[in-house]
Amino acid sequence: MHIADHLSSLELDPRSPAPLFQQLYDAIKCGILESRIRPGAQLPPSRGLARQLGVSRQTVIAAYAQLTAEGFLGGTVGRGTFVNDLLPIGASRKPPRPGPELHLLSERGARFVDHRASMVTHEGAPRAFRLGMPGLDVFPFSVWARLESRCWRQAGADLGYADPAGLPRLRELLAAHLSSSRGVHCTAEQIVVTSGSQQALFLIGTLLLAPGDAVWVEDPGYRGASGALYAAGARICPIPVDAEGLSVALGAQHHPDARLVYSTPSHQYPLGMSMSLPRRLELLAWAAHHEAWVVEDDYDSEYRYDGPPLASLQSLDKTGRVIYVGTLSKILFPGLRLGYLVLPPGLANAFARGKAVIDRHTSTVQQRVLAAFMSEGHFNRHIKRTREIYTERHGALLRALDMELGSEIDLAAANSGLHVALAFRRGLDDLALEAAAARRGIEVRALSRLYAPRENVALRTGTPSGLLLGFAAVPAEDTRAAVKALSGVLKEIRRSRQ
Ligand SMILES: Cc1ncc(COP(=O)(O)O)c(C=O)c1O
Repeated sequence: MHIADHLSSLELDPRSPAPLFQQLYDAIKCGILESRIRPGAQLPPSRGLARQLGVSRQTVIAAYAQLTAEGFLGGTVGRGTFVNDLLPIGASRKPPRPGPELHLLSERGARFVDHRASMVTHEGAPRAFRLGMPGLDVFPFSVWARLESRCWRQAGADLGYADPAGLPRLRELLAAHLSSSRGVHCTAEQIVVTSGSQQALFLIGTLLLAPGDAVWVEDPGYRGASGALYAAGARICPIPVDAEGLSVALGAQHHPDARLVYSTPSHQYPLGMSMSLPRRLELLAWAAHHEAWVVEDDYDSEYRYDGPPLASLQSLDKTGRVIYVGTLSKILFPGLRLGYLVLPPGLANAFARGKAVIDRHTSTVQQRVLAAFMSEGHFNRHIKRTREIYTERHGALLRALDMELGSEIDLAAANSGLHVALAFRRGLDDLALEAAAARRGIEVRALSRLYAPRENVALRTGTPSGLLLGFAAVPAEDTRAAVKALSGVLKEIRRSRQ
């Protein structure tokens, strides 16, 4: 296209927030970079172009001046304004290849955006059966706000860069809490504060695994973990779980070369059973013998409704193979992005240094607020209070399920955590149910989503169809109403398939 045609077809919008001269500047620059306006081409005189476009001459002069200052245009007084003919832009410049942006990424980058690493993000205010969400309606925000505003008033010199392992005071408090509530053996020096357990899992994969190293993950299991480990280069080996937790025997038989095992021993995600003691000892013995690491993701074990929390796997570890991962996402709230690692002593310093490379350290303001929240007793009070509230919410869900869907479902182990897993007795497409429920504003997660893709599993016994239902995020009456509505959706699906 001739340059005059190109410019005369421009439409500048006087209502746009971008000033007119900027719109003209953008259009000419774009034309040059995309080879629609060639190096050496002469631009129309400012007066003529202004008339043609219906703008003031000053607008055109300002656009030309900016493009000249940036080297796109040149010219001499009296001879006119030309596109810089030394620009290495021309026929040889290929338009960008169409298609997904994957080709722009390195092999490593492509693993980050692979569907195996993708995460689900919930939107909007909490509603029934939001998964993995604590009750924000019962969080003491006024206390948190008071402590935070005190932190700001006292911030003084504390707003510079800080220890990548986390604030010493917070690490001491976490070590004391973990020792008393979870039986974790550790000192503050073994703790590294992270931006959620997600970063902890990513650090583990990045610092301890070579590309292609085999990793056992539970099947069904937590996508956040397999995604982070996959992005770090691991070869993900899904290992079935049974009533006692991860099947160490199957893992040892099919993937004896694994360097790392990811597990949720207190509350298997998503099915909910806790790993039996014989299985724990078998796993630790296998890991010690093979010098493999065991990751214990202890994400919601504070919430057990028929007794005190179970002791951690780490508390049984005599050989320093267990890496304990914790999060504040379930006790406090996910948006806080605070989690931590408890590392065998020989790894703590390396992890702190690795963490510094990723993001220097986690926000010190939120760490300080959390330390105050813990040291002043609010943390333990909040756990105690939410345990009572969630006991009620959990009971309400179980009763409603029994009443509305009792003949349709089997509940998986159901005495802890923030969600319940159920399986349908008669065949049902749980993805179709998830979609139909979503159309009615009911948020459920299909259980089949949490099983590894079929092609990856030599060990698959069949994917049950079922649902995961969170119960902590909303009051019991909302959950009861949602169970009723869900039962209606299910009946409709059954009827339409007859
Ligand atoms: C098994 C498991 N681990 C950890 C987490 C918490 O992740 P984060 O600390 O990154 O919020 C969740 C949240 O849903 C989870 O389900």
